[in-house]
Amino acid sequence: MVLSALVVALFATPLPVSYSHDVAPILDRHCAPCHRPGGVAPFSLFTYSDAAKRAGLIATVTRSRYMPPWLPTEPRFAHERKLTDAEIALLARWAATGAPPGNPAETPPVPTFAEGWQLGKPDLEVEMSNTFDVPADGPDLYQCFAMPVAESASHYVRALDIRPGNPLVVHHAILFQDTTGTARARDTGSGYPCFGTPGFLPARGMGGWTPGSLPFQTPEGMPETLYAHAALVLQVHYHPVGKPASDRTRVALYFTDQKPTRTGYDIPLGSSRIDIPAGDRAYKVADSFVIPVDVDVIAVNPHAHYVCRDMLGYALLPDGTRRTLIHIPNWDFNWQQQYVYSKPLRLPADTRVVMEYTYDNSAANPRNPNHPPRRVFYGPSSTDEMAGLHIAVAPADAADGEELGLALWGKLVRATGGGGLSRGRR
Ligand code: HEC
Repeated sequence: MVLSALVVALFATPLPVSYSHDVAPILDRHCAPCHRPGGVAPFSLFTYSDAAKRAGLIATVTRSRYMPPWLPTEPRFAHERKLTDAEIALLARWAATGAPPGNPAETPPVPTFAEGWQLGKPDLEVEMSNTFDVPADGPDLYQCFAMPVAESASHYVRALDIRPGNPLVVHHAILFQDTTGTARARDTGSGYPCFGTPGFLPARGMGGWTPGSLPFQTPEGMPETLYAHAALVLQVHYHPVGKPASDRTRVALYFTDQKPTRTGYDIPLGSSRIDIPAGDRAYKVADSFVIPVDVDVIAVNPHAHYVCRDMLGYALLPDGTRRTLIHIPNWDFNWQQQYVYSKPLRLPADTRVVMEYTYDNSAANPRNPNHPPRRVFYGPSSTDEMAGLHIAVAPADAADGEELGLALWGKLVRATGGGGLSRGRR
């Protein structure tokens, strides 16, 4: 009787939680990649005192899933940054019980982070031609830099890495190559402003950097081509941090001799017919495309500005099955990135891929850039909107590439000829 009461009491009282035994391993693994000296976050979470003085805040931001930053609720992607419910509960319990340190001897060693390029010595290393000065405050800046590349031959690129000179002010960066000469002409030494798109077509995106991201590696058999005499163009989103800062971001490229055996295609779902009445809380933008051949879906890249709230991408298979490609219920422009599937997703011919975005143009949307809300159109600036879902696919059978390419061309012609791109502003 006494014994069973004791057993019940033991099970009813959760085991004590301590920093050294329970909390440090979670922070080291999920937070320290950004919260470390020289990292992107404004403070470190390395030591007991770093963590203990913020125990309550850590519990709050993990419970709301604001940290670690990760927007999609489904499906599962490679390199996902998510805490489990058990880990979140543990951090909450630690804060609620007064953030006990535990036994210091048990604290795991401070994690180390590679200082050099994570993939070793690059085949080509380039950097912005000058440092760029970011003012102490004011609006975020979107600046494009044409980076000189003295390559007279084309190369196949198997991987790339981007290293911000000053991770505190670099919010994200995307690397493009420009074969038109436009970027080089516009960049007279300190870049040129470029919110949204880099200002040339085709804008060949090669990869990107977001806080905490890993080097970008191309899928097996699908290296990117870097064209001879092309300019590498880096689009950087700077976020002023209260004191003047400067940045000079560097890029590393890794080449391969292996010719591509599969060709990647971009299915650009999206619409420029955006005209959102002020105050509208649930304005919908949709697009779809029927893929005529079997494909493997490799990655998705959603894009919109600040008024967008909910992003849904899905595939409707010919047998009626519906598979979620991505769902972001609470879009945050500040954490945009490409999402790579852990395993490519095979879709049979005649699958319809669909995007459905919902915009909240009311004052209740805390990210609405317009106070009071105003009518919002399609456009490139931060107070305009966009709607895009890029789906990176490779035909299952390389011989099907031409058919897919033609179907995509047809979609583009319908979008432009049908008034899509030209009639955004009515
Ligand atoms: C991918 C990078 C990244 C990761 C991983 C990350 N953080 Fe952050 N964190 C940031 C950045 C950048 C900021 C500052 C900007 C902001 O608040 O959005 C921040 C801010 C915070 C804040 C301050 C929030 C506020 O309202 O002042 C807390 C607390 C925090 N992080 C805790 C954590 C914890 C705990 C983890 C791990 C469970 C974590 N972060 C993982 C990048 C990251």
